[in-house]
Amino acid sequence: MSRPTAPARFTLDSAFGIGAVHPRLYGSFVEHLGRCVYTGIYEPGHPQADTDGLRRDVLELIQELGVTTVRYPGGNFVSGYRWEDSVGPREERPVRLDLAWKSTETNEFGLGEFMDFCAKTGTEPMMAVNLGTRGVEDALRLLEYSNHPGGTELSDLRAAHGAKEPYGIKMWCLGNEMDGPWQTGHKTAEEYGRLAAETARAMRMIQPGLELVACGSSASGMPTFAAWEATVLEAAYDQVDYISLHAYYEEVDGDRDSFLASAVDMEHFIESVVATCDHVRARLKEKKRINLSFDEWNVWYQKRPNPHQVEDWQQAPRLLEDVYTVTDAVVFGSLMIALLRHADRVTAASLAQLVNVIAPIMTEPGGPAWRQTTFFPFAQASTYGRGRVLRVDVDSPTYPTARFGDVPLLHATAVIDDETGDITVFAVNRSQTDTLPLEIDLRGVGAHTVAEHLVLADGDPEAANTADRPDRVTPHPATGTTVTDGVLHAELEPLSWNMIRLTGRQD
Ligand code: AHR
Repeated sequence: MSRPTAPARFTLDSAFGIGAVHPRLYGSFVEHLGRCVYTGIYEPGHPQADTDGLRRDVLELIQELGVTTVRYPGGNFVSGYRWEDSVGPREERPVRLDLAWKSTETNEFGLGEFMDFCAKTGTEPMMAVNLGTRGVEDALRLLEYSNHPGGTELSDLRAAHGAKEPYGIKMWCLGNEMDGPWQTGHKTAEEYGRLAAETARAMRMIQPGLELVACGSSASGMPTFAAWEATVLEAAYDQVDYISLHAYYEEVDGDRDSFLASAVDMEHFIESVVATCDHVRARLKEKKRINLSFDEWNVWYQKRPNPHQVEDWQQAPRLLEDVYTVTDAVVFGSLMIALLRHADRVTAASLAQLVNVIAPIMTEPGGPAWRQTTFFPFAQASTYGRGRVLRVDVDSPTYPTARFGDVPLLHATAVIDDETGDITVFAVNRSQTDTLPLEIDLRGVGAHTVAEHLVLADGDPEAANTADRPDRVTPHPATGTTVTDGVLHAELEPLSWNMIRLTGRQD
């Protein structure tokens, strides 16, 4: 039963911005894991498959989602990746064991197919090199194959494989989660820092303008967190542009209040990595800043057993197929807000992952594709969260949590389009029971009217979309959101994600 609460408030002023939203903030991730690739994006023989075997229904949903970059081919998978297995005539490609996910990889879908997928979805590839079982030479060979125009063995091989024009892949991850003992070929910070620096230096000899991402910690809870980042950056500061962050959240032991406050942890994580980068910058007397690539983030129920029976070494088994509820979507939206609130330093991010594997899009082999609850906050942010993030200092009633102490009920950010003056507010009400009145003082942004207020909330916080009921949960319009005397008034439903669009034009 919803009770009135004291209002949450903040003031918007166009003079107080945080930073421009980099389009790469709306990236995602395709790994050779479970059914992300096979029967996810790629399923020849499916009634919706195009001539390349890509599912048209999935391509359409990816475009609707508004994904800008796609990280590939892993994840843990990349640490055993042999890229040359995945190119050339399909019938000659070897079948291999994938140690990361104890699966069998047919290599039917490979680098060229991924580049076709990027072209069809209008996304930028973000390629990872294998620094687990391989190293500098292999990274150089992959770069030459991908980006060198022609006249060398590997660039001519690409042309012979049907891609005359170079792929022009600009952004490269130097390995994946190399601090994790589960990683094939995992390393100490000293070993990895040196390898990352040498790989980056050599790659830049081929192409100086690359944008390179060094691996940060695989999670902020790792015992080596922060020391790892400092050591790696001391070794590789000049050679890299980004350090990576990964974070996954889940409800533990029924503590939903803490789960709803997951973004508190995410923001602390981001600020800790920024501090570490800038500490190393000061120590090394460097001018440039290292930015953050939050290239794995999501809700992920890692502690739940897999409901599907999966034997080792299957091809495209059902792994990590989490079904997301309304509650998960609210937490997910709050994680998006956390990224936007740090848009000055988080200039790339990848929602992990894109299809079937902890994903906003689900498919059935031979069957339909549909949107999970988490699809909606991402799609709305990617569509309207473009421009410059404004400073939002929230004055909000709080609620107690076991993990984070007292936490504001309101989590919010605002993005202004400086050309039109339009503003989009993204806001989450973390209360499980109470409506939260919201007041936004618009004195610093001029006259605005409400164009739209969309809400994701439901009487059943466990409601989810499934193959049988793909549209059980969708955003709905809110009523009664108005601007009076320069102050916006809204009522945020309990446990809700909200997008409020304000137009500066008086039409
Ligand atoms: O996204 C799933 C896995 O999570 C990735 O392969 C790995 O990098 C991380 O541990």
